[in-house]
Amino acid sequence: MKNILIVLGTRPEAIKLAPVIIELKKQNNIETLVCSTGQHREMLKQVLEIFQVKIDFDLDLMKPNQNLYDITSTSLIKLKVIFNKIKPDMVVVQGDTTTAFTASLAAFYKKIKVAHVEAGLRSYNVFSPYPEEANRRFISIMADLNFAPTKNSAKNLLDEGVDRKKIYVTGNTVVDSIINIKKQLNSLNIKKLKETTKDYLPEKFDNEKFILITLHRREKFGVELEKMLQAIKEIAIANPHYNFIYPVHLNPNVKMPVDKKLNNIDNIYLIPPQDYLSFIYMMSKCVMILTDSGGVQEECYIFKKPILVLRDVTERNEAIKAGYAFLVGSNPTKIKKYFNKIIKSIETHENLFKQPNPFGDGHSAIKIVKIIKQNLIK
Ligand code: UD1
Ligand code: UDP
Repeated sequence: MKNILIVLGTRPEAIKLAPVIIELKKQNNIETLVCSTGQHREMLKQVLEIFQVKIDFDLDLMKPNQNLYDITSTSLIKLKVIFNKIKPDMVVVQGDTTTAFTASLAAFYKKIKVAHVEAGLRSYNVFSPYPEEANRRFISIMADLNFAPTKNSAKNLLDEGVDRKKIYVTGNTVVDSIINIKKQLNSLNIKKLKETTKDYLPEKFDNEKFILITLHRREKFGVELEKMLQAIKEIAIANPHYNFIYPVHLNPNVKMPVDKKLNNIDNIYLIPPQDYLSFIYMMSKCVMILTDSGGVQEECYIFKKPILVLRDVTERNEAIKAGYAFLVGSNPTKIKKYFNKIIKSIETHENLFKQPNPFGDGHSAIKIVKIIKQNLIK
């Protein structure tokens, strides 16, 4: 019997690892345990509940307004204790968060194999996204198995000298998750779903046209975030026939300036982070999306929603190349220009989605688990 430990800590890691956990738990010659660093609390709980993922070890790390030193050092020390206790044959991490980096490092120090889901994404700017670009590059040095979502991310790893035998192109597990959620949405009583959000959303929600917004990147805190919020404010005022629904990230560096800048605009609805089901429902109903989120850039294809990426660089260039995502940075003039361009042609936005989904077909977790098994059980 082999022993696998999945380590996750934030909302996107849970969304993207849930399909891998579900698939691993079906294997009878592998024991799969899940450790949460608790880097996120409420936002993680929402996802774990939806996917019914049970946490075996909770390091309960989150503190209000935590900094990178806190989460890096505490996570590393606490993971050492867990690794000593379970002695896993392999540790599985996802993406580029501090949880993913510290779990890989803690495993590497004990010479435990590391499997990295969503490997090889690169912006080639070490300060954008910050600290994620550095985190994911560090993980690639330590990983034994690199699950690259696209050919492009696999090429990045090859160019950096990662051994070809350690790289597998699998698609992104986010597609597995969203397809699963889409099925649940289809069979769900929408009235029931709306009850969970009714305090926040406009009346006649289903019939109203709205734009969905999320922002949270660390490298934009301060002046750049202010500029993006100003652009959103001006766009909302200039487009009173649209609503703007914005589930605000709980990070105080985001929440405070957002509340201050946007809370008095009639057609902007600032709401708490939504559970995955509700958020995906909103994505399915919205007209377009303004975001700096990594996951949202990958998900919007499923519902054919055009997206303005409020970042200077993206590691999801596949979405830009496919033609449905537009990299607009934080410059208000550029954000407004692109918004106006897309919104004017919104009736024909399906034309932007002519190419196949660059992030895969929803079978990534099955591929990943097969490779993990081949690697562990020889
Ligand atoms: C983290 C990740 C980022 C990822 C993002 C997803 C790092 C360095 N950053 O950024 O890569 O894109 O998660 O959302 O790994 N908070 C709560 N409740 C929660 C979650 C957060 O109150 O459930 C607040 C707390 O005050 C916390 C703060 O947000 O201290 C920051 O959380 P943290 O995980 O450090 O940074 P994120 O911006 O969420
Ligand atoms: N998401 C969610 N509720 C929200 C906002 C986002 O469930 O209110 C989901 C979204 O669908 C995506 C993930 O959270 O799968 C993205 O998380 P985030 O933007 O925080 O992190 P990133 O992907 O940028 O690392």
